[in-house]
Amino acid sequence: MDSAPAAAFLPPELYRSEAVAALERQHVATRFWHPVAAAADLPPGHVRALELLGLPVLLCHDSDGLVRAFRNRCPHRAVAFHEPTEGSVACRRLVCPYHGWTYDLGGTLLAAAREAEFVDPFDRGAWPLEALGCQVRASLIWVALGADPIPLDDQLDLPLQEAAKALSQPLVPLAFHRQTLACNWKIAHDNTLDDYHVAIAHPTTLHRMQGPVRHYSHRFGTWANLLATPWQDGETEFLTFGLPPWNHLLLWPDGRLALIQFLPENLTSCTMQVWLLGPEARKGEGGVLMAEMVSFLAEDRVLVESAQRGYGEGFRTGPPHRLEARILHQQAIYAALLEPWYASGRMPR
Ligand code: FES
Ligand SMILES: [Fe+2]
Repeated sequence: MDSAPAAAFLPPELYRSEAVAALERQHVATRFWHPVAAAADLPPGHVRALELLGLPVLLCHDSDGLVRAFRNRCPHRAVAFHEPTEGSVACRRLVCPYHGWTYDLGGTLLAAAREAEFVDPFDRGAWPLEALGCQVRASLIWVALGADPIPLDDQLDLPLQEAAKALSQPLVPLAFHRQTLACNWKIAHDNTLDDYHVAIAHPTTLHRMQGPVRHYSHRFGTWANLLATPWQDGETEFLTFGLPPWNHLLLWPDGRLALIQFLPENLTSCTMQVWLLGPEARKGEGGVLMAEMVSFLAEDRVLVESAQRGYGEGFRTGPPHRLEARILHQQAIYAALLEPWYASGRMPR
């Protein structure tokens, strides 16, 4: 696809409906992979608990080098093995804190307490941990919640075409930032795909990094899209990819990579997470480099929270601009995934 399809923006009703939020959860979130941690933050022989869209997840990095994800729920009585507050912890065996069922990091039950005394004969092999899709790509760990996600390489189609070499470099985490935004995730995602506002809303921050608007260049894949802007050296480019369902991947010519994610919380709030990765040599600069990003993200926060307050009854979106083509591209993907529910009348047009 050379250009985004001409269309109008999604109707504001989609941003206000609990029924739509439930459909997104069921039919959009489950089709994609979600970055959940920097790979280097989970060394071999470590595990880490986290929550993804309310689901308790356990990441396990076996000493064989494989990273796996499981539902963080003991098959016996549903208790979690570790808590998200613990971060990455060294671990050889997962021992449930309730009745002591013990698993290896591959999810196989090794032992249950008083195994000979179950009411019915006990079969260890019948009680593995529930595995989730898990892959390492671009120095991040990605988890899938559904049984039929699109291939991760499809979700990353354009980044892999345009920047395969940069994405294959092993990067270390330089900094991480998380905050809640008081807006629907779609307002935050739309805003980060919006190349129309940068010169106006970020004159001294992001606009300086991206340079003159006349040099912006857009590319569109089946799933991802790209804004390329010439870098200060005049030879290379700063790449900003929009990825479904709510992610953004930024690649600097100096080897830095940032992943910005807007996870839905409820209709009027989302969690923004930002991973900043880079070469080992830049570890000491993480704080300064993240502060640079947070300064333009703070400018965006004011705008997206204001837009949220305006998205109430009676609002109709204005006409899309050429520089908003990346918003239309991602919204077309969203609408196509939910088309069966449009057709059945369960979603507002
Ligand atoms: S809940 Fe885990 S052993 Fe009982
Ligand atoms: Fe912005």
